[in-house]
Amino acid sequence: MAAIGVHFGYTCACVAVFKIVGIAAKQGRIRNATNTVVKVKQILGRHYDDPDAQAHREESKCIVVNKSDLPRYEIDTGETTKYVSPEDVAKLIFHKMKETAQSALGSDVKDAVITVPFEFGEMQKNALRQAAESAGFNVLRLIHEPSAALLAYGIGQDSPLGKSHVLVYKLGGTSLSVTVLEVNSGMYRVLATQTDHRTGGESFTHELAQHLAAEFKKTFKQDVMGNARAMLKLMNSADVAKHTLSTLGSANCFVDSLYDGMDFECNVSRARFELICSSLFNKSIQPIKSLLEQVNLSTSDINKVVLCGGSARIPKLQQMIRDLFPDVELLNSIPPDEVIPVGAAMQAGILVGKDSLALGEDSITVDCCASDITVKEVDDSGSEVFTVLFPSGTPLPARRQHTLHGPGSLSSVSLELYQAQRPIAQVSTLLSDISVQT
Ligand SMILES: *[C@@H]1O[C@H](CO)[C@@H](O)[C@H](O)[C@H]1NC(C)=O
Ligand SMILES: *[C@@H]1O[C@H](CO)[C@@H](O)[C@H](O)[C@H]1NC(C)=O
Ligand SMILES: *[C@@H]1O[C@H](CO)[C@@H](O)[C@H](O)[C@H]1NC(C)=O
Ligand SMILES: *[C@@H]1O[C@H](CO)[C@@H](O)[C@H](O)[C@H]1NC(C)=O
Repeated sequence: MAAIGVHFGYTCACVAVFKIVGIAAKQGRIRNATNTVVKVKQILGRHYDDPDAQAHREESKCIVVNKSDLPRYEIDTGETTKYVSPEDVAKLIFHKMKETAQSALGSDVKDAVITVPFEFGEMQKNALRQAAESAGFNVLRLIHEPSAALLAYGIGQDSPLGKSHVLVYKLGGTSLSVTVLEVNSGMYRVLATQTDHRTGGESFTHELAQHLAAEFKKTFKQDVMGNARAMLKLMNSADVAKHTLSTLGSANCFVDSLYDGMDFECNVSRARFELICSSLFNKSIQPIKSLLEQVNLSTSDINKVVLCGGSARIPKLQQMIRDLFPDVELLNSIPPDEVIPVGAAMQAGILVGKDSLALGEDSITVDCCASDITVKEVDDSGSEVFTVLFPSGTPLPARRQHTLHGPGSLSSVSLELYQAQRPIAQVSTLLSDISVQT
């Protein structure tokens, strides 16, 4: 049985089989900007009059109209004009995620854990859940993005005792969010979170595209800043260069027929990119400081920092975060854009392994066992042996396999499960019944 985790982002969506959609649409934007829907997550589950919906309408190249106080995208299909709801767009994205997961796994996939931003309200959560369900998913649970990030790294399992603070830094395509969580006996509690919808990876791409336009002007004495089509081409080229600069020291930008049949080529070094974007780097770090002030913590109170979002790959950004938290473990071993879906997929895997679990409610916090769960056995000499099955702090639900040893002549077995010193369950079973569940 397979279950997957889906992170439905503002710019890209990611399923825990590590495929990303959004790239094709980024290209399509050039040919068909007015019929390309971007950042649908911003408007999902909102009324037309909602200030966030209005902000989205103003920046969307695709026309957004008011249908009985609900937003609809106006899409020109060439023959007719169609009105598409944000929920339908989300459904298409989920459908694509489902297909991606199925082709990667070679089997049907229904069960999924979906992540939501911490600040999503009930209406938005319901809209997201419904979109996923109408795409054919059985939504096991909605979990908060920062909690998924912690799960991906198993935080709370390694040091179950005592309180610690974790900062989740997420720089996505078009949003920046910073969250401080308290981890206590494996439980996650969000202390505060801040999201800035004006800063994201695209801001960096935009700065770089402006630089490319200036270079073009220097060489060809032509100003393309006001030419939307040329600027989109530069944005795509800048986007590729930005990705290259996360691993290499320099990147080549080439745009075929940028303007009036003229091709454009230039090289950008990483140092140059860092200089061009220096104020953006400052802006991307600032929310960490204001968030810590808000919760009255200093950088030395933070025990771990988790990086998420594709743009958190940028080396300079990682360096600035390291400088801010010199003694703190910076968790970046999982590719940042995959952290959240990986955490969701781990949760999904645990949930499907435990079919007796009631899945009715959305669980936003992740429950963990507060003390060790042990099983008591009696060995050959008749003395009691306790084995820890779930160390305290294990996120729940959880699944463990435990092998019992005994003489070959046993026909039945009785197990006692303990939480700390307290018995919590007693299971007696005939051995023909090999799998014991509780
Ligand atoms: C949107 O439509 C609803 C109902 O049709 C109307 O009450 C509302 O005033 C409209 N909102 C705007 C901003 O035009
Ligand atoms: C960019 O760098 C490559 C490799 O170093 C070089 O061949 C090319 O001429 C450079 N292009 C420009 C426009 O400087
Ligand atoms: C970024 O912040 C640092 C320290 O706060 C400051 O010295 C520097 O001038 C800032 N740079 C920009 C481009 O704002
Ligand atoms: C902030 O934390 C410091 C040190 O822990 C403490 O002395 C101070 O009273 C706290 N301030 C507020 C407003 O909680």
